[in-house]
Amino acid sequence: MVTAVITGASSGLGKEYINAIIAQYPSVDAFWLVARRKEVLKEVAQEHPDKTIATISLDLSKAESYDLFEKLLKENNPEIKVLINNAGYGKCTDFFSSNRAQQTGMVDLNCRALTAMTRLCLPYMLDNSLVLNISSIASFVPTPRMSVYSATKAYVTALSRALRDELRPRGINVTAVCPGPMDTDFWNVANVPEGKSRLIDRLPRVDPKAVAVGSLRAAKRGKALYTKSLFYKFYRLLAKLLPHGFLMEFTEI
Ligand SMILES: NC(=O)c1ccc[n+]([C@@H]2O[C@H](COP(=O)([O-])OP(=O)(O)OC[C@H]3O[C@@H](n4cnc5c(N)ncnc54)[C@H](OP(=O)(O)O)[C@@H]3O)[C@@H](O)[C@H]2O)c1
Repeated sequence: MVTAVITGASSGLGKEYINAIIAQYPSVDAFWLVARRKEVLKEVAQEHPDKTIATISLDLSKAESYDLFEKLLKENNPEIKVLINNAGYGKCTDFFSSNRAQQTGMVDLNCRALTAMTRLCLPYMLDNSLVLNISSIASFVPTPRMSVYSATKAYVTALSRALRDELRPRGINVTAVCPGPMDTDFWNVANVPEGKSRLIDRLPRVDPKAVAVGSLRAAKRGKALYTKSLFYKFYRLLAKLLPHGFLMEFTEI
């Protein structure tokens, strides 16, 4: 079956990718939705009764989850048309007094899981298929108080660009998706509720649905990187032109 694999599909941006893929890729008839919350994944699946949806409850920050996923791939031999590496989280805190497991957990999920899932899925990917790696505008300039998060996203953007080059001859395009702030569960998990950060409160929001639709379209066109909205495209340009030491005066959350 022609399949889309989406990690972090139980909420926010990941959930929006299901509708975007249905609209833009009618040939995709099966979805593999991966996240920890099985019940929530099942509710998401019920919204699409006409599609074959596998809800796969895995904690992708744990290495044994990759073995289980590999087993699923071998047993089912899917033809993967789209892989969306979306599962991720950030924690906003000063590093000195932070929780060690939460800091290293970001590296495990945002970097290691994304790398493992890409490597595992590649042998099942069709010619003319897509990998979308969800990075962030935080990958453009280091972000004090979200230092580990922004570093993990810099990894995602850099890895995506290099893999795009490597995988193009195989007919696989890799796109780094770099959204600005979206109103999802992300900010509760990050411990930045409304009113806690003047910077985050002031920054323009991007709509996760528009990010899913726009980034999938950009990936189909072979783009290396996608950022929604002129404001954040301009920020990306500034990050290329100005010293990061200067910009970091403004990025602290
Ligand atoms: N929201 C923003 O402002 C923003 C901006 C730029 C980039 N991003 C990136 O966008 C992506 C999606 O975030 P979102 O905004 O949609 O936040 P979200 O609503 O919190 O979604 C995060 C998703 O990741 C899954 N997840 C978390 N930990 C997991 C684990 N250990 N194993 C498997 N799945 C796990 C969650 O599902 P379960 O809880 O069910 O496991 C959920 O489906 C992330 O990579 C984030 O870094 C977000």
